Amino acid sequence: MPTTLTFLGHSTFQVETGEKTLLIDPFFTDNPQATTSADDVNPDVIVLTHGHGDHVGDTVAIAKRTGALCIANFEICSWLGTQGVEKTHPQHIGGSFQHDFGRLKFTIAHHGSMLPDGSNGGNPAGLLFDFPDGTLYVAGDTGLFLDMQLIGEAGINLAVLPIGDNFTMGPDDAVRAADFLKAERVVPCHYGTWPLIEQDVDAWAEQLRNTTAADPVVLAPGESTTLS
Ligand code: NI
Ligand code: MN
Repeated sequence: MPTTLTFLGHSTFQVETGEKTLLIDPFFTDNPQATTSADDVNPDVIVLTHGHGDHVGDTVAIAKRTGALCIANFEICSWLGTQGVEKTHPQHIGGSFQHDFGRLKFTIAHHGSMLPDGSNGGNPAGLLFDFPDGTLYVAGDTGLFLDMQLIGEAGINLAVLPIGDNFTMGPDDAVRAADFLKAERVVPCHYGTWPLIEQDVDAWAEQLRNTTAADPVVLAPGESTTLS
């Protein structure tokens, strides 16, 4: 079975790889795009890019119910511990670790990371996954940065990039990001959830197709694609 990425709305993704199910930034409650609920997911692992409420989301409730391992930066893992989450694995930017689902490296992101209760959520991150059948880069919430060229040296099969503008890269910068990364395929996210980040995703997809070597993969909430 190839590694599969399912879009669950906003910036929430489920990854199925080998025997493992990963949830990235599991935000269901109050997510207008959510097609499932926090009660209906059963991850082995939860991975968080940063501390904002639309990314930490339902992590605490899901982790307590399922016993999922939570991987995040050190500050967020410490906070999860104070919330009663028992299994955490802290990483930090530049650091990678060989988990049982594959290798995961934390990369830079330019954004904030304050936790919902105002606690310090450390620095925001991107996620670079090396699965047995390919690489997945999840930029997290970030503006465009030139070091995406460095991240792209890993050879990115699939990149998940925000295109919503206002809080993160907008569509034009996301196209430049795909070019910096030399990504083969790009899934857009973090748009359309609220009026402030409404975007014409079809126009973005056409621009990506016409001006870069990357192929757009636009997923409606609930839809999936394979890694390569
Ligand atoms: Ni954010
Ligand atoms: Mn966000």
